[in-house]
Amino acid sequence: MLRTHTCGELRKEHEGQTVRLAGWIHTVRDHGNLMFVDLRDRYGLVQVVINPESLTAETVGGLKPESVIGIQGVVRARPDDAINAERVTGAIEVPADEVTLLNPSKTPKFEIEDRVQLSESVRLEHRYLDLRRPVMQRNMMKRHELLLAMRNYLSSREFVEIETPILTQPTPEGARDYLVPSRVHSGTFFALPQSPQLFKQLLMVSGYDRYFQIARCFRDEDLRADRQPEFTQLDLEMSFVEEEDIYAVMEGLMLYMLDHVFDVQLESPLPRLTYNEAMERYGSDKPDTRFGLELVDLADLASRCEFQVFRRTIESEGRVKAIRVPGGAAAATEKVRKDLEAFAKTHGAKGLAWMKVLAEGELQSPIAKFFSESEQAELLKTMEAEAGDLLLFVADKERVVHSALGALRNRLAKDLGLLEGQPHQLLWVTEFPLYEHDEKSGRYVPAHHPFTMPDETFFENQELNPAAIRARSYDLVLNGVELGSGSIRIHRPDLQEKVFETMGISKEVAREKFGFLLDAFEYGAPPHGGIAIGIDRLVAILLGYESIREVIAFPKTAAASCLLTGAPGPADAEQLEELSLRIREEVSVREP
Ligand code: AMO
Ligand code: AMP
Repeated sequence: MLRTHTCGELRKEHEGQTVRLAGWIHTVRDHGNLMFVDLRDRYGLVQVVINPESLTAETVGGLKPESVIGIQGVVRARPDDAINAERVTGAIEVPADEVTLLNPSKTPKFEIEDRVQLSESVRLEHRYLDLRRPVMQRNMMKRHELLLAMRNYLSSREFVEIETPILTQPTPEGARDYLVPSRVHSGTFFALPQSPQLFKQLLMVSGYDRYFQIARCFRDEDLRADRQPEFTQLDLEMSFVEEEDIYAVMEGLMLYMLDHVFDVQLESPLPRLTYNEAMERYGSDKPDTRFGLELVDLADLASRCEFQVFRRTIESEGRVKAIRVPGGAAAATEKVRKDLEAFAKTHGAKGLAWMKVLAEGELQSPIAKFFSESEQAELLKTMEAEAGDLLLFVADKERVVHSALGALRNRLAKDLGLLEGQPHQLLWVTEFPLYEHDEKSGRYVPAHHPFTMPDETFFENQELNPAAIRARSYDLVLNGVELGSGSIRIHRPDLQEKVFETMGISKEVAREKFGFLLDAFEYGAPPHGGIAIGIDRLVAILLGYESIREVIAFPKTAAASCLLTGAPGPADAEQLEELSLRIREEVSVREP
């Protein structure tokens, strides 16, 4: 037996017991005639006392950080003045009667400590060492606990976990597909699923009623801190349900998981905002409602004032909105204002007008002169402004105003420390538009995916502007991050074909791509709906990380490569031949 106990397990009551321990050398303190070794494993640290004279020269030479050793000894209580109260094993130590060097370690690239500051590329290249750090082990453990809690909760409520294929046909979720060439059917490709969407709907047709899966999804899209090319969803689907049924199940699950795994208590029912309200008040469909700084509509005043930028914007059906930063005037130096304006411009704004509210209720601003005294008073009233406040304005097309001010309020919240100590905020955003206007193609594309049920507006008025049609879809938003999306689905083939058509997907293309789904709908598809939430995002947010890479064991870089294994790599000539593939000559194979 290599070990009888783990390194985190021994206490005062083990005194006198002969134990075997094994693990990594965390630190060595050499006192000449005695060596104090902190032995580490996933469970903790324990102090081992070694007499070097009893060992071979080779073993002594191998007693270095990260070497793996096994020891045997009798647990003894530490003298009172040597007790380490900060460590659970701090009341004892194990003098070693026997030491075995199981595997010496080279000097690692970095210390296995939580505190070390490391570049991410060094960490990812040596991820097996990075994952030894206690904080990373905690992250992986929490993730495991979350998955377990999810499975337990859902299984106890009649949900069945069913795996769906990884080698499949494209499933549209708005990103590019990862393709896998077929050897057997040369010239053809599987796509890796962007989500199990189509299969989970087929499972509803098959009568499984309540399905879930911890599903790996693959999307070839531009990566950010909260996006990876492969990521994990909790995917869920239910039959004979409406929105309220899905909300009830999800709220139950979320509250249970947050409480049991993260000790975070939230109240049900969760707040709900319609998409329109979220956009109007927060400039975002994933609003962070942990702080104020809400957008205020100034259309009326803007249409009357003498500031041409505002007036013309309203005349050309744009929007003029502002946010009030309470007490923000003092800090708004020219440098700060320029910086905020530059930030707003990266979000499409043409400028960022500002006003400071002075003590006398007077305004200090280059554009104050364009507002009469009564207009200034009206402005202050509409903005509920007080002395010392800063007002920031954007005039533009609605999309730009919302995007710029929406981003600005998140940035201000960070700059001003408004998020510190705020409780987590989980909420629903409902009544999304069915379509989104794609400026590039000039077409209306599905805002969620093309299997989402339109709401009554679609059936009542076919002539309606497509932008005004709402979907029976909903998002779950956590602290201003889109955590999950779902919808009630279309379950009738005729309606599905019609929706494809309005999205510019021809009958032929629909048949070719989704014929199997349309066929399945001919055989008694029940009304159904579901949702998927991003597990990586959920764990990252609750553990306080911006990047989901901190909670994924082997993540990829922002350039979609794996620094540890070197993937993706070139295929050898024989493999390409078997797959009937040729790499174009002008393409030089680039190092990832
Ligand atoms: P959606 O595309 O919104 O919906 O995805 C659901 C959730 O998955 C997470 N997510 C990601 N996480 C990490 N990296 C990514 N690249 C990434 N992309 C998405 C997000 C997101 O909210 N089939 C539908 C769900 C349904 O309708 O039931 C779907 O996949 O947290
Ligand atoms: P200008 O008249 O262009 O010098 O602009 C005067 C002020 O209005 C500057 O602070 C600009 O940043 C701001 N501004 C210009 N265009 C816009 C706009 N579309 N929305 C908000 N502020 C603007």
